[in-house]
Amino acid sequence: MQHHLTSEAINTYAENISTPESELLRRLNRETHAKVELPIMLSGHLQGALLAMLSRMIRPKRILELGTYTGYSAICLAQGLPEGGMLHTIDINEELAERCQRYWKEAGLEDKITMHIGPGASIIPSLDEVFDLVFIDADKQGYAQYFDLIIDRLPQGAFIFADNVLYDAEVVLPEAEQSKNAKAIVAFNEKVKNDPRVEQVLLPVRDGILIMRKL
Ligand SMILES: C[S@@+](CC[C@H](N)C(=O)[O-])C[C@H]1O[C@@H](n2cnc3c(N)ncnc32)[C@H](O)[C@@H]1O
Repeated sequence: MQHHLTSEAINTYAENISTPESELLRRLNRETHAKVELPIMLSGHLQGALLAMLSRMIRPKRILELGTYTGYSAICLAQGLPEGGMLHTIDINEELAERCQRYWKEAGLEDKITMHIGPGASIIPSLDEVFDLVFIDADKQGYAQYFDLIIDRLPQGAFIFADNVLYDAEVVLPEAEQSKNAKAIVAFNEKVKNDPRVEQVLLPVRDGILIMRKL
């Protein structure tokens, strides 16, 4: 899976024109590639810059992230938090926590990011917060359930972003050629399309980001 649906040249050009990755994010990106399994999962420069820009536009007081991994996208999304704001991020893999905390502390975000270890579907109901922004980027089979768990709890005007909604272009393959994850993503995309509680736009950036707004 390559996770870039645009050509390498266009992706590099877009990264070059975009504000450069901070030294800290570059280091976290490098360390993730050197030391952590499946570094393809990290959002990376272009998507991270987009998440940071969108979060700055929304100015959410409370953010929920599903799928922390090495904490890269959490740092990007936290850029839009106002004073007193908080990002809750959930990951099932406890081995990731130490590195995340180290980088969040260095970024001055230790008081703005709370990590929860465990399955997203169990942790979401225990969070007594009103979220203005949700980023779904955990197990692809879980997207529809995460959407169902949060949608009625969101205030009107809240945003949900879902990553990998093109699933390396598998979503446009005949069903018989799609992987299990791609089928789950196709079902999720159709579910969102048919849900009158949201309006949505699918951005073909990186591996596809679906931006939803609660009506
Ligand atoms: C694509 S990575 C997240 C990348 C991160 N958001 C970023 O952009 O840097 C997906 C993460 O979801 C986590 N995950 C998988 N299944 C999960 C579940 N059921 N509940 C919570 N997290 C899960 C994995 O451990 C992995 O770290």
